[in-house]
Amino acid sequence: MRGNSPLPQGEGQGEGELNASAMHTFAPPRGMRDFYPEDFRARDALFSAWRETARLWGFEEYDAPVVETLDLLERKAGEEISEQIYAFQDKSGRGLALRPELTPSLARMIIARQGALSFPLKWSAIAQCFRYERMTRGRKREHYQWNLDIVGEESVLAEAEVLGAAIAALRRLGLSHEDFRVRVGSRAVLAGLFARSGIAPEHFTALCLALDKRGKISDDQVRELLRAEGVGEADAGRVFEMLALRSLEDVDGRLAGDSAVADLHTLFDHARDLGFGQYLDFDLTVIRGLGYYTGIVFEAFDTAGRFRAIFGGGRYDNLLSTLGGERMPCVGLGFGDVVVMELLAQLGKAPATARGLEYAVGYMDEPSRNLAMQVAARLRAGGESCDLALAAE
Ligand code: HAM
Repeated sequence: MRGNSPLPQGEGQGEGELNASAMHTFAPPRGMRDFYPEDFRARDALFSAWRETARLWGFEEYDAPVVETLDLLERKAGEEISEQIYAFQDKSGRGLALRPELTPSLARMIIARQGALSFPLKWSAIAQCFRYERMTRGRKREHYQWNLDIVGEESVLAEAEVLGAAIAALRRLGLSHEDFRVRVGSRAVLAGLFARSGIAPEHFTALCLALDKRGKISDDQVRELLRAEGVGEADAGRVFEMLALRSLEDVDGRLAGDSAVADLHTLFDHARDLGFGQYLDFDLTVIRGLGYYTGIVFEAFDTAGRFRAIFGGGRYDNLLSTLGGERMPCVGLGFGDVVVMELLAQLGKAPATARGLEYAVGYMDEPSRNLAMQVAARLRAGGESCDLALAAE
């Protein structure tokens, strides 16, 4: 115990006090998790469901470093995520950070080989991400995030494919449309509605980020944010009125012939044809808290409304050009491990975490040990898992 204690030798504490203080330091940093073997097995079951679904839906797996340059991750749009970055300098003074999300790294990788890759591409990754987040239910300071992205495809079939795959993974884990639903909105539709109301387009992104905070802060505070963006009281009133449009038909009435509305209709048609129409609900108030989305956006929630989003994503057609690449249409989503595991536990559907060991070989006394070792060696050579007792029992 003494050797592991952060206290210098001879600090004069009693043994009891020393243990208490040492125990405290054995917890992981706040918001970070240890994975003991049973936790690891549960995580592995989730990762297997993600990986197998990605394979079935034709996504290829990739990876990127957990540490990225701060330059790549920093954005000026006033997003919450920018405030949550774990940033540091390396010994040469380079500005680096633990990635809070994978999308900028994906964009960097695409841009680096934009002339050589063949598009459209469908990529998938399981990435550990870090955000200095206020801790609430379902939110930690580190999480694993399954990412599905399609790069280089304009058509709404891209949205349908990433959504269909994420829903398929949840079904694979034992959940149905009674347990969760996906709310689908569109920033492009909102932009059209705002434009028809005479609201200036240059503040659109800031407006979206302010509106995304609805529910977390009061509507009066949101109005305050809108005012700071130069949106007057009357315009703010119209914005809220538009967000109250409940059905796609209501939107049709206001934006007849608009291609962004047609895209939403097409997505709902595709979802029906691909067999997951019953999971989608139209909801214009889904806006998303990241600045780069440009079109259809979506978030999945448990139907009882107990948790934060299970997954979220959308179309982001301008991110590559913003980062210095050629403009290219992109659609994707991030699906974290924390909420889904809490939801599965709540519904009594947590993945089984049996050890999956085929054989255990023991021996009564030391002379039999050699024989036991030979048995274990033969089993392992035959591809059977085997735990050999380390002492006579
Ligand atoms: P996001 O909505 O910030 O999107 O995160 C996606 C998902 O990651 C959330 O729905 C949630 O499941 C999980 N998540 C995020 N933060 C935390 C946290 N602090 N603790 C636990 N889970 C968390 C993005 O990150 C986008 N980059 C997704 C994307 C990919 N868009 C296009 N491609």
